Amino acid sequence: MKQLDKLLTNNRLWAAGVRSREPDYFTKLSQIQVPEFLWIGCSDSRVPANQITGLAPGEVFVHRNVANIVVHADLNCLSVLQYAVDVLKVKHVIVCGHYGCGGVTAAHDNLKLGLIDNWLRHVQDVGQKHREALSAIPTREGRITRLCELNVIEQSVNVAQTTVVQDAWARGQELAVHGWAYDLRDGVIRDLKMSIEGPTELEECYATALTVSDGVTSALGGKGLKL
Ligand code: CO
Repeated sequence: MKQLDKLLTNNRLWAAGVRSREPDYFTKLSQIQVPEFLWIGCSDSRVPANQITGLAPGEVFVHRNVANIVVHADLNCLSVLQYAVDVLKVKHVIVCGHYGCGGVTAAHDNLKLGLIDNWLRHVQDVGQKHREALSAIPTREGRITRLCELNVIEQSVNVAQTTVVQDAWARGQELAVHGWAYDLRDGVIRDLKMSIEGPTELEECYATALTVSDGVTSALGGKGLKL
């Protein structure tokens, strides 16, 4: 229990520190939540949404699952999306994957890990969809890197195609969907040029992202990306 005691002690110190700097911080924060961003990211402990984007509590609504997957039948993810768009009125939905993702790697290597294999099947479907492009990449590391990006691009499309986002656009609500990839090695987020601001942009944006982000991978490969 010592480890947990440490967490609770840390929490008390943190809360006291915040209160000493701004006495009404928690009172204000507890009364209203108006984040402009919904973050859909990987559960990976090394990719905390608030910290890597410099956002304070209250500024980003977060949903995380293994390999940042958006499935049309996932009530959990859809509920988060619906609440964020319809109730909180976020202006941006960010799907952020990361290089060196264990889920993507397991999917690529067809590892047998148990129940999660079914979840990761969605990433394998992405791999199958882009089989030709992936097989042209000579190294396993390069293929996994590219699969991390392709997964973000495809999951961004999935977000854009939900009834939640489609309906928001149909009623003229300001809302954009973005695809990013975080690099664990340098802490920097790469914009995969997948930014969709309306239903008519989806097809062209998807085609552009596939081309442009391919250049991102090549640049990373040039720097000797190792996962
Ligand atoms: Co991951």
